[in-house]
Amino acid sequence: MQHPRERALSSALDLDDFARLARRKLPKAVYGYVANGAEAMVARDNNRAAFGHWRMVTRVLRDVSARSQETTLFGKRYAAPFGIAPMGASAVVAYDADNAMARAAREAGIPYALSANSITPLEEVAKSNPDSWFAAYQSPDPSKIERMLGRVEAAGFDVYMLTVDVPVGSNRVNDKRAGYSMPLRPTPRLTWDGLTHPGWLAGTFARTFLARGVPEISNLEAKGRIGIFSREVAVIAGHDDFGWREAELIRKLWRGKFVIKGLLSAEDARIARDLGADGVVVSNHGGRQLDSAVSPLEVLPEIRREAGDMAVLCDSGFRHGSDVLKALALGADFVLVGRPFLFAAAVAGEAGVQRAIGILSKEIDIDLALLGVDGPGDVGPEVLREAMAPRRGV
Ligand SMILES: Cc1cc2nc3c(=O)[nH]c(=O)nc-3n(C[C@H](O)[C@H](O)[C@H](O)COP(=O)(O)O)c2cc1C
Repeated sequence: MQHPRERALSSALDLDDFARLARRKLPKAVYGYVANGAEAMVARDNNRAAFGHWRMVTRVLRDVSARSQETTLFGKRYAAPFGIAPMGASAVVAYDADNAMARAAREAGIPYALSANSITPLEEVAKSNPDSWFAAYQSPDPSKIERMLGRVEAAGFDVYMLTVDVPVGSNRVNDKRAGYSMPLRPTPRLTWDGLTHPGWLAGTFARTFLARGVPEISNLEAKGRIGIFSREVAVIAGHDDFGWREAELIRKLWRGKFVIKGLLSAEDARIARDLGADGVVVSNHGGRQLDSAVSPLEVLPEIRREAGDMAVLCDSGFRHGSDVLKALALGADFVLVGRPFLFAAAVAGEAGVQRAIGILSKEIDIDLALLGVDGPGDVGPEVLREAMAPRRGV
């Protein structure tokens, strides 16, 4: 007989299925923390709708039997043109999620970005996957910048990604309504929510306590950790006094690849290019920050024009192979995907993430063949047409 976990896994046929499966397993507050966007969730929903704006023109009879989706980025060859986006507090959602995602990415030959807002020490994740990227919520204090870069470099990371779209935390009304907060508050409601989801309570929450004690956010500073029940957690996310001057300092001090994540303006891309960044991630944080933010897809072409030699990465709402290829056609070099991989970890740990990666790769492979091209580098604007009429859902 199939183990329930394996049964769940084999019933996942596309990335959205992992959200459906995780929803059953996770407490409402924890599921909501991952799934929700800010305020009225307009940006989150628009991220999906934006893909429906485009249709694709196929070419036929072109012998696509030699196709490959391998992609070179930051001097490394990856097996696919997508990677796993940084997600904070992942370990609240799935047991050992940071390591599970890091290992699955390594196995599949795609990049994994560890969020600074995580409980697994970055040195440990570097062992699980020496090619991991580090995504910082950096304090602007120059001495803290220097010490943090020293720590990240000593652990062996080559890619330092600076998340810039969180000068302040957003208003996550839906998280509040569902009872999720950071620091976690064991209110009667949250306790009940946990107790009624024993799979998560025993398999994630209790197991994490047994393995690590009270979980602590471990990667925000070079030294010092903050317990997830501590009040200090609430003030750590944003640094509203961080500016381009500090980004420039990072560029000066960091010998590896420097990537700026979370911009939507072509002018900001130009500034990033001028200060010597190696890449930018066009992102609205999955619709979790400014709720009226444009979808990255809407601004990709203008950002590509300003990017020069920088790599242009893109995220927010990617769920299908055709979504990835649409972004490439609009000027992206690479795509990051967030929520589906964390849900996959919640459903079945590393094996779940591996399956999710496999599903997206397979879709990309099929779509390349159906478009009549040999690889991501052959997908240009000529494959796109604007949809004739707006359609709901994609
Ligand atoms: C649960 C969760 C936590 C996140 N935490 C971070 C973070 O710590 N740092 C960061 O740069 N982005 C963070 N993000 C944003 C993701 O890196 C990414 O931009 C976004 O999830 C992409 O959208 P998608 O989930 O629709 O694929 C988080 C997203 C989610 C869903």
